[in-house]
Amino acid sequence: MTTFKRTLFFLTILLSAGMGSTSFAEGAKPQMNSMQQHGMMSHANDGRISLGLPPKMKTHQLMNMRSHLEAIQTIIALMETGDFDKASEVAHEKLGLTEDMKKMCSMFNNDDFRNLGFQFHKSADVLSETLKTKDMSKSLHALRDTMGYCVQCHATFRQ
Ligand code: HEC
Repeated sequence: MTTFKRTLFFLTILLSAGMGSTSFAEGAKPQMNSMQQHGMMSHANDGRISLGLPPKMKTHQLMNMRSHLEAIQTIIALMETGDFDKASEVAHEKLGLTEDMKKMCSMFNNDDFRNLGFQFHKSADVLSETLKTKDMSKSLHALRDTMGYCVQCHATFRQ
């Protein structure tokens, strides 16, 4: 098969498996090489809702997102070394509903996206409070809840 045909083939499988409406966490995806992935990324409509962001906001959003990802890694590392108080601070400062985050979320004019953003940041404040208990199991549970919003939003929206 040509690469193009293979891409179409995989796309058909993925779409019929309802990938557009499910999370990235689904385990049943076939392995894709980078060409096939590229084919998917450039597909005009992958089922997610576009926010229609202008270029400057796009860059800013991705920067912010990379910082979210880094915060999650930092929190996990601090939990591992038992530094729950520091992890709690990072959860609030980098992911919580701070004035900066409120301002940033308010810039989007999609109500569902904004609400999901606010819920996400609130969950990070719950995570921050839970980390203060220094209870590993409860903290992991709260971290999982917060990451549920990352997964849910990415499955629903694109730039
Ligand atoms: C309210 C929605 C929302 C939430 C919550 C959210 N994101 Fe995102 N994120 C987005 C959107 C929209 C994009 C752009 C995706 C696209 O256009 O394909 C994105 C992109 C990203 C990217 C790609 C960055 C790049 O440079 O390409 C990363 C990494 C990321 N998010 C991490 C996270 C992590 C980690 C969390 C949770 C801790 C999170 N996001 C929570 C909406 C969200």
